Amino acid sequence: MVQGDYLKKIPHYGDALLWIRNMHDYSPEVRKVLAKNAFDALTPGGKLLIVEGLRNPKTIEVYQGYVYSAIPTENVWFYPYSFGEYKSLLKEAGFSSIKSIPLTGGIFYIISAEKRK
Ligand SMILES: C[S@@+](CC[C@H](N)C(=O)[O-])C[C@H]1O[C@@H](n2cnc3c(N)ncnc32)[C@H](O)[C@@H]1O
Repeated sequence: MVQGDYLKKIPHYGDALLWIRNMHDYSPEVRKVLAKNAFDALTPGGKLLIVEGLRNPKTIEVYQGYVYSAIPTENVWFYPYSFGEYKSLLKEAGFSSIKSIPLTGGIFYIISAEKRK
């Protein structure tokens, strides 16, 4: 494990990055920075794995209840993306093979994206 600020630069050292419940906090502009920094940090063939609730009318209220212990402040959002929004974001950053894998409970998913070799 290494320390750092993922909004600035992620150390180039891994073949996988696992982000759990962080993306929903950021504006679309900041998410673009994060996706690009993740892409730059990964080695070819590496994967970005994002664990998040996906925007889905059937489950969004449950997810909001789950995460709302974090009160939005000026610079922090609460906006879970749909899978389509993740797909566009990650594709634009250069990723491919973008998939969503449901986790138990039907609220959280792993969004998996690959930096092609
Ligand atoms: C909502 S918490 C999720 C924590 C944990 N993954 C979980 O699921 O319980 C968001 C995490 O992002 C980390 N974080 C926030 N800003 C960061 C930054 N600029 N660089 C690296 N990590 C950051 C925080 O330290 C925090 O651990």
